[in-house]
Amino acid sequence: KANPRLAKVMASLTRHLHDFCRENEITIDEYMAGIDMINRAGQMSNEKRNEGLLLADIFGMESLADEITHKLASEAKDAPTATAILGPFWRRDAPIYRMGESIVKGFPEGDHVMMHGKVTDFDTGKPIENAEIDIWHTGPNGLYESQDPDQPDMNLRGRFYTGPKGEYNFYCLRPTKYPIPYDGPAGEILQLLDRHAWRPAHIHFIVSAPDYKPVVTQVFDRRDENITNDVAFAVKDSLIVDFESRKGDSKAQFELKYDFKLASY
Ligand code: DHB
Ligand code: FE
Repeated sequence: KANPRLAKVMASLTRHLHDFCRENEITIDEYMAGIDMINRAGQMSNEKRNEGLLLADIFGMESLADEITHKLASEAKDAPTATAILGPFWRRDAPIYRMGESIVKGFPEGDHVMMHGKVTDFDTGKPIENAEIDIWHTGPNGLYESQDPDQPDMNLRGRFYTGPKGEYNFYCLRPTKYPIPYDGPAGEILQLLDRHAWRPAHIHFIVSAPDYKPVVTQVFDRRDENITNDVAFAVKDSLIVDFESRKGDSKAQFELKYDFKLASY
């Protein structure tokens, strides 16, 4: 017997797709061009790149689903850490590091950051020990390791575990603004529409702990000029951060403090 939720949403999707075709008088050629894009996105996708997600993201679909899922409650003054889109470049099984280690190999020219903070229970304020912080970002060349043959495998990706007070600290790079790749259907569409491809400089995180709702999120650099027009519509006010300059640390010129608040199930 059909799943009632599936039956309902598929009927609605069919109605909207038919309306779309009628309203725009979509021809066979246009229809085939669209199908071809979807097929190519699928063919390009693998465990290092989710082109289908990228294609949908530039129309704000993931950011809309994120908003619906979390009902924008996360933007309230006192709320668990706001979520943001996963994006196409997360990889499972990033290397596990100890507190205080760096996820950066190479890039001596990069701006290095000591990032620290704590993970707490949103309701009680109590620290969460052994929470996992999975982090990934691009190099100063704007490329994720998975797109860049010059970076070692899994560079600029890592997983850290909080200590008894919920605390964490590690070294990473100050992120660099980043154009989504032009070599696939998502990039093609942006070019055809004369839309820019920039995502404001961001660092991705998945923060999780047993019995808590995982938080998939990003932080964004306030000084980035594309902070108000992210190609993937993911920026939220509470996720905009200021990198402070750091003195007396030969390993980092900048510092970022960010606390994560998780809600229990
Ligand atoms: C998208 C998201 C990212 O985090 C990224 O680095 C590139 C693209 C996206 O959703 O389109
Ligand atoms: Fe990203």
